[in-house]
Amino acid sequence: MPRDIKTLILESVTLVEARLDALLPNEDISPSTLHKAMRYSIFAGGKRIRPLLCLEAAKACGATPEAALNAACALETLHTYTLIHDDLPSMDNDDLRRGRPTSHKVYGEGIAILAGDALLTEAFAMLAQSPSNERYNVGNYVRELAHQTGSKKLVGGQVLDLEGEGRELSLDELRAIHNGKTTALILASLRLGGMCANCSSEQLKSLSDFGNNLGLAFQIIDDILDITSTPEMMGKSIGKDEKVQKATYPAIVGLDQARSEARELTAAARASLNVFSAKRQENLLAISDYLLNRNY
Ligand code: IPE
Ligand code: IPE
Ligand code: MG
Ligand code: MG
Ligand code: MG
Repeated sequence: MPRDIKTLILESVTLVEARLDALLPNEDISPSTLHKAMRYSIFAGGKRIRPLLCLEAAKACGATPEAALNAACALETLHTYTLIHDDLPSMDNDDLRRGRPTSHKVYGEGIAILAGDALLTEAFAMLAQSPSNERYNVGNYVRELAHQTGSKKLVGGQVLDLEGEGRELSLDELRAIHNGKTTALILASLRLGGMCANCSSEQLKSLSDFGNNLGLAFQIIDDILDITSTPEMMGKSIGKDEKVQKATYPAIVGLDQARSEARELTAAARASLNVFSAKRQENLLAISDYLLNRNY
Protein backbone atom coordinates (compact mmCIF):
# COMPACT_ATOMS: atom_id res chain seq x y z
CA MET A 1 0.00 0.00 0.00
CA PRO A 2 1.47 3.44 -0.91
CA ARG A 3 2.64 5.40 2.10
CA ASP A 4 0.33 8.41 1.66
CA ILE A 5 -2.87 6.30 1.67
CA LYS A 6 -1.55 4.41 4.69
CA THR A 7 -1.08 7.68 6.55
CA LEU A 8 -4.49 8.90 5.47
CA ILE A 9 -6.17 5.75 6.78
CA LEU A 10 -4.20 5.79 10.02
CA GLU A 11 -5.13 9.42 10.74
CA SER A 12 -8.79 8.76 10.05
CA VAL A 13 -8.90 5.53 12.06
CA THR A 14 -7.25 7.23 15.05
CA LEU A 15 -9.76 10.09 15.05
CA VAL A 16 -12.77 7.83 14.53
CA GLU A 17 -11.81 5.20 17.11
CA ALA A 18 -11.15 7.81 19.80
CA ARG A 19 -14.54 9.45 19.15
CA LEU A 20 -16.32 6.07 19.01
CA ASP A 21 -14.81 5.19 22.37
CA ALA A 22 -16.15 8.45 23.80
CA LEU A 23 -19.61 8.10 22.25
CA LEU A 24 -20.34 4.43 23.02
CA PRO A 25 -21.49 3.42 26.52
CA ASN A 26 -18.70 1.91 28.64
CA GLU A 27 -18.63 -1.82 29.29
CA ASP A 28 -19.33 -1.40 33.00
CA ILE A 29 -22.63 0.41 32.36
CA SER A 30 -25.64 -1.86 32.82
CA PRO A 31 -26.50 -4.06 30.98
CA SER A 32 -22.83 -4.82 30.83
CA THR A 33 -23.14 -7.86 28.51
CA LEU A 34 -24.83 -5.74 25.87
CA HIS A 35 -22.25 -2.95 26.04
CA LYS A 36 -19.43 -5.50 25.94
CA ALA A 37 -20.95 -7.12 22.86
CA MET A 38 -21.35 -3.75 21.11
CA ARG A 39 -17.72 -2.84 21.77
CA TYR A 40 -16.48 -6.35 20.90
CA SER A 41 -17.71 -6.00 17.32
CA ILE A 42 -16.87 -2.32 16.84
CA PHE A 43 -13.31 -2.52 18.17
CA ALA A 44 -12.45 -5.75 16.36
CA GLY A 45 -10.67 -3.80 13.63
CA GLY A 46 -12.24 -3.44 10.22
CA LYS A 47 -11.08 -1.25 7.40
CA ARG A 48 -13.15 1.77 8.53
CA ILE A 49 -13.85 2.64 4.90
CA ARG A 50 -17.17 4.37 5.46
CA PRO A 51 -15.89 6.85 8.06
CA LEU A 52 -12.81 7.45 5.90
CA LEU A 53 -14.98 8.29 2.89
CA CYS A 54 -17.17 10.53 5.03
CA LEU A 55 -14.23 12.51 6.45
CA GLU A 56 -12.55 12.81 3.07
CA ALA A 57 -15.75 13.97 1.37
CA ALA A 58 -16.03 16.69 4.01
CA LYS A 59 -12.40 17.69 3.47
CA ALA A 60 -12.91 17.78 -0.31
CA CYS A 61 -15.68 20.32 0.31
CA GLY A 62 -13.33 22.44 2.39
CA ALA A 63 -14.37 21.48 5.95
CA THR A 64 -12.27 20.17 8.82
CA PRO A 65 -12.75 16.48 9.77
CA GLU A 66 -14.40 17.60 13.02
CA ALA A 67 -17.47 18.80 11.09
CA ALA A 68 -18.13 15.22 9.94
CA LEU A 69 -16.63 13.17 12.78
CA ASN A 70 -19.88 12.28 14.58
CA ALA A 71 -21.44 11.33 11.25
CA ALA A 72 -18.39 9.19 10.44
CA CYS A 73 -18.82 7.37 13.77
CA ALA A 74 -22.53 6.90 13.10
CA LEU A 75 -21.71 5.26 9.75
CA GLU A 76 -19.23 2.80 11.27
CA THR A 77 -21.62 2.01 14.12
CA LEU A 78 -24.51 1.33 11.76
CA HIS A 79 -22.23 -0.70 9.47
CA THR A 80 -21.15 -2.87 12.43
CA TYR A 81 -24.79 -3.64 13.23
CA THR A 82 -25.29 -4.86 9.66
CA LEU A 83 -22.28 -7.17 9.97
CA ILE A 84 -23.50 -8.72 13.25
CA HIS A 85 -26.93 -9.40 11.76
CA ASP A 86 -25.49 -10.52 8.40
CA ASP A 87 -23.48 -13.23 10.19
CA LEU A 88 -26.42 -14.67 12.19
CA PRO A 89 -27.34 -18.34 11.60
CA SER A 90 -30.62 -17.24 10.03
CA MET A 91 -28.72 -15.07 7.56
CA ASP A 92 -25.22 -15.90 6.25
CA ASN A 93 -24.40 -18.15 9.22
CA ASP A 94 -20.76 -17.14 9.60
CA ASP A 95 -18.42 -17.94 12.48
CA LEU A 96 -15.62 -15.49 11.76
CA ARG A 97 -15.69 -11.69 11.40
CA ARG A 98 -12.89 -9.14 11.57
CA GLY A 99 -10.56 -11.93 12.57
CA ARG A 100 -12.62 -12.97 15.61
CA PRO A 101 -15.49 -15.36 16.35
CA THR A 102 -18.76 -13.67 15.34
CA SER A 103 -20.91 -11.95 17.96
CA HIS A 104 -23.47 -14.77 18.22
CA LYS A 105 -20.65 -17.33 18.70
CA VAL A 106 -19.37 -15.40 21.72
CA TYR A 107 -22.52 -13.88 23.22
CA GLY A 108 -25.31 -16.09 21.85
CA GLU A 109 -27.90 -15.19 19.26
CA GLY A 110 -30.18 -13.18 21.52
CA ILE A 111 -27.46 -10.78 22.66
CA ALA A 112 -25.99 -10.56 19.14
CA ILE A 113 -29.37 -9.48 17.73
CA LEU A 114 -29.79 -6.95 20.53
CA ALA A 115 -26.22 -5.63 20.17
CA GLY A 116 -27.03 -5.01 16.51
CA ASP A 117 -30.29 -3.28 17.44
CA ALA A 118 -28.51 -1.08 19.98
CA LEU A 119 -25.72 -0.14 17.54
CA LEU A 120 -28.31 0.83 14.93
CA THR A 121 -30.09 3.04 17.44
CA GLU A 122 -26.89 4.58 18.84
CA ALA A 123 -25.81 5.40 15.29
CA PHE A 124 -28.73 7.80 14.95
CA ALA A 125 -27.98 9.31 18.37
CA MET A 126 -24.41 10.00 17.19
CA LEU A 127 -25.60 11.48 13.92
CA ALA A 128 -28.02 13.74 15.77
CA GLN A 129 -24.99 15.29 17.50
CA SER A 130 -23.56 16.52 14.19
CA PRO A 131 -23.38 20.30 13.85
CA SER A 132 -25.80 21.99 11.45
CA ASN A 133 -24.57 24.50 8.87
CA GLU A 134 -26.07 27.00 6.42
CA ARG A 135 -27.53 24.37 4.09
CA TYR A 136 -28.05 21.26 6.20
CA ASN A 137 -29.32 20.39 9.67
CA VAL A 138 -29.75 17.27 11.80
CA GLY A 139 -33.11 16.54 10.19
CA ASN A 140 -31.41 16.36 6.78
CA TYR A 141 -28.67 14.06 8.11
CA VAL A 142 -31.11 11.70 9.81
CA ARG A 143 -33.36 11.51 6.76
CA GLU A 144 -30.36 10.73 4.55
CA LEU A 145 -29.10 7.88 6.71
CA ALA A 146 -32.59 6.47 7.29
CA HIS A 147 -33.32 6.56 3.56
CA GLN A 148 -30.09 4.81 2.56
CA THR A 149 -30.33 2.10 5.22
CA GLY A 150 -34.07 1.45 5.43
CA SER A 151 -36.42 -1.05 3.85
CA LYS A 152 -35.98 0.16 0.29
CA LYS A 153 -32.18 0.24 0.32
CA LEU A 154 -29.78 -1.53 2.74
CA VAL A 155 -32.29 -3.75 4.55
CA GLY A 156 -34.21 -4.29 1.33
CA GLY A 157 -30.98 -5.39 -0.37
CA GLN A 158 -30.33 -7.90 2.40
CA VAL A 159 -33.83 -9.30 1.88
CA LEU A 160 -33.27 -9.68 -1.88
CA ASP A 161 -29.88 -11.26 -1.15
CA LEU A 162 -31.52 -13.90 1.07
CA GLU A 163 -34.35 -14.53 -1.36
CA GLY A 164 -31.83 -14.86 -4.20
CA GLU A 165 -29.98 -17.79 -2.62
CA GLY A 166 -30.07 -20.86 -4.84
CA ARG A 167 -31.75 -18.97 -7.69
CA GLU A 168 -30.36 -17.86 -11.00
CA LEU A 169 -30.59 -14.09 -11.19
CA SER A 170 -30.14 -11.65 -14.03
CA LEU A 171 -27.40 -9.04 -13.84
CA ASP A 172 -30.04 -6.36 -13.23
CA GLU A 173 -31.43 -8.30 -10.28
CA LEU A 174 -27.94 -8.75 -8.88
CA ARG A 175 -27.20 -5.04 -9.27
CA ALA A 176 -30.35 -4.24 -7.30
CA ILE A 177 -29.12 -6.48 -4.47
CA HIS A 178 -25.62 -5.00 -4.41
CA ASN A 179 -26.83 -1.42 -4.68
CA GLY A 180 -29.16 -2.00 -1.76
CA LYS A 181 -27.03 -4.00 0.63
CA THR A 182 -23.71 -2.23 0.02
CA THR A 183 -23.77 0.82 -2.28
CA ALA A 184 -26.41 2.62 -0.22
CA LEU A 185 -24.26 2.96 2.92
CA ILE A 186 -21.16 3.92 0.93
CA LEU A 187 -23.26 6.52 -0.88
CA ALA A 188 -24.55 7.79 2.48
CA SER A 189 -20.95 8.07 3.72
CA LEU A 190 -19.97 10.40 0.89
CA ARG A 191 -23.19 12.38 0.91
CA LEU A 192 -23.18 12.87 4.69
CA GLY A 193 -19.53 13.98 4.56
CA GLY A 194 -20.49 16.57 1.97
CA MET A 195 -23.63 17.64 3.81
CA CYS A 196 -21.79 18.09 7.12
CA ALA A 197 -19.36 20.29 5.17
CA ASN A 198 -22.12 22.58 3.82
CA CYS A 199 -21.56 21.31 0.26
CA SER A 200 -23.13 22.91 -2.80
CA SER A 201 -25.69 20.93 -4.82
CA GLU A 202 -23.06 20.47 -7.55
CA GLN A 203 -20.63 18.98 -5.04
CA LEU A 204 -23.35 16.72 -3.61
CA LYS A 205 -24.15 15.43 -7.09
CA SER A 206 -20.49 14.74 -7.76
CA LEU A 207 -20.04 12.89 -4.44
CA SER A 208 -23.21 10.89 -5.16
CA ASP A 209 -21.96 9.78 -8.58
CA PHE A 210 -18.64 8.86 -7.01
CA GLY A 211 -20.42 6.87 -4.26
CA ASN A 212 -22.76 5.04 -6.60
CA ASN A 213 -19.92 3.79 -8.77
CA LEU A 214 -17.47 3.13 -5.96
CA GLY A 215 -20.10 1.30 -3.88
CA LEU A 216 -20.98 -1.19 -6.58
CA ALA A 217 -17.29 -1.75 -7.36
CA PHE A 218 -16.73 -2.38 -3.63
CA GLN A 219 -19.27 -5.22 -3.49
CA ILE A 220 -18.05 -6.74 -6.76
CA ILE A 221 -14.56 -6.89 -5.26
CA ASP A 222 -15.98 -8.39 -2.06
CA ASP A 223 -17.59 -11.10 -4.25
CA ILE A 224 -14.27 -11.70 -6.02
CA LEU A 225 -12.30 -11.91 -2.77
CA ASP A 226 -14.78 -14.51 -1.46
CA ILE A 227 -13.30 -16.75 -4.17
CA THR A 228 -9.70 -15.64 -4.40
CA SER A 229 -8.61 -14.61 -0.89
CA THR A 230 -8.05 -16.50 2.37
CA PRO A 231 -9.77 -16.34 5.79
CA GLU A 232 -6.44 -15.21 7.33
CA MET A 233 -6.28 -12.28 4.93
CA MET A 234 -9.96 -11.34 5.09
CA GLY A 235 -10.68 -12.10 8.74
CA LYS A 236 -13.92 -13.75 7.62
CA SER A 237 -14.94 -17.01 5.99
CA ILE A 238 -14.20 -17.60 2.33
CA GLY A 239 -16.03 -19.65 -0.30
CA LYS A 240 -19.39 -19.28 1.40
CA ASP A 241 -21.07 -17.50 -1.49
CA GLU A 242 -20.59 -20.46 -3.82
CA LYS A 243 -21.53 -22.96 -1.15
CA VAL A 244 -24.95 -21.42 -0.56
CA GLN A 245 -25.30 -20.42 -4.22
CA LYS A 246 -25.42 -16.70 -3.59
CA ALA A 247 -25.88 -14.54 -6.61
CA THR A 248 -22.52 -12.78 -7.09
CA TYR A 249 -20.76 -11.03 -9.95
CA PRO A 250 -18.21 -13.78 -10.57
CA ALA A 251 -20.99 -16.40 -10.45
CA ILE A 252 -22.93 -14.61 -13.19
CA VAL A 253 -20.24 -13.08 -15.43
CA GLY A 254 -17.04 -14.91 -14.38
CA LEU A 255 -13.99 -13.64 -12.50
CA ASP A 256 -12.35 -11.77 -15.39
CA GLN A 257 -15.48 -9.89 -16.38
CA ALA A 258 -16.21 -9.11 -12.73
CA ARG A 259 -12.70 -7.64 -12.36
CA SER A 260 -13.11 -5.55 -15.47
CA GLU A 261 -16.53 -4.23 -14.29
CA ALA A 262 -14.93 -3.20 -10.99
CA ARG A 263 -12.18 -1.37 -12.89
CA GLU A 264 -14.69 0.42 -15.14
CA LEU A 265 -16.87 1.47 -12.23
CA THR A 266 -13.82 2.80 -10.40
CA ALA A 267 -12.82 4.80 -13.48
CA ALA A 268 -16.34 6.24 -13.69
CA ALA A 269 -16.21 7.09 -9.98
CA ARG A 270 -12.93 8.93 -10.44
CA ALA A 271 -14.19 10.89 -13.43
CA SER A 272 -17.18 12.16 -11.45
CA LEU A 273 -14.94 14.10 -9.07
CA ASN A 274 -13.97 16.68 -11.66
CA VAL A 275 -16.00 19.49 -10.08
CA PHE A 276 -13.35 19.52 -7.34
CA SER A 277 -9.88 21.01 -7.82
CA ALA A 278 -7.05 18.54 -8.48
CA LYS A 279 -5.79 19.03 -4.93
CA ARG A 280 -9.25 18.43 -3.40
CA GLN A 281 -9.76 15.24 -5.48
CA GLU A 282 -6.44 13.68 -4.47
CA ASN A 283 -7.43 11.75 -1.35
CA LEU A 284 -10.69 10.36 -2.73
CA LEU A 285 -8.79 9.25 -5.84
CA ALA A 286 -6.17 7.52 -3.69
CA ILE A 287 -8.93 5.73 -1.74
CA SER A 288 -10.56 4.52 -4.96
CA ASP A 289 -7.23 3.00 -6.05
CA TYR A 290 -6.71 1.36 -2.70
CA LEU A 291 -10.20 -0.18 -2.73
CA LEU A 292 -9.83 -1.49 -6.27
CA ASN A 293 -6.50 -3.15 -5.55
CA ARG A 294 -7.23 -4.41 -2.05
CA ASN A 295 -6.78 -8.06 -1.22
CA TYR A 296 -8.74 -8.07 2.08
C1 IPE B 1 -18.14 -5.98 4.65
O1 IPE B 1 -17.74 -4.64 4.66
C2 IPE B 1 -19.55 -6.06 4.19
C3 IPE B 1 -19.74 -5.61 2.81
C4 IPE B 1 -20.54 -4.66 2.51
C5 IPE B 1 -19.04 -6.28 1.74
P1 IPE B 1 -16.22 -4.24 4.86
O2 IPE B 1 -15.38 -5.00 3.86
O3 IPE B 1 -16.10 -2.77 4.84
O4 IPE B 1 -15.90 -4.83 6.31
P2 IPE B 1 -14.98 -4.26 7.48
O5 IPE B 1 -15.69 -3.07 8.05
O6 IPE B 1 -13.65 -3.89 6.87
O7 IPE B 1 -14.88 -5.37 8.47
C1 IPE C 1 -23.00 -7.89 3.42
O1 IPE C 1 -22.70 -8.51 2.23
C2 IPE C 1 -23.74 -6.60 3.27
C3 IPE C 1 -24.19 -6.11 4.58
C4 IPE C 1 -23.68 -6.50 5.72
C5 IPE C 1 -25.24 -5.12 4.60
P1 IPE C 1 -21.91 -9.89 2.38
O2 IPE C 1 -22.72 -10.90 3.09
O3 IPE C 1 -21.31 -10.22 1.07
O4 IPE C 1 -20.71 -9.40 3.36
P2 IPE C 1 -19.63 -10.37 3.98
O5 IPE C 1 -18.91 -11.02 2.82
O6 IPE C 1 -20.33 -11.32 4.89
O7 IPE C 1 -18.72 -9.39 4.71
MG1 MG D 1 -24.75 -11.27 3.33
MG1 MG E 1 -22.13 -12.18 4.73
MG1 MG F 1 -19.30 -11.10 0.83
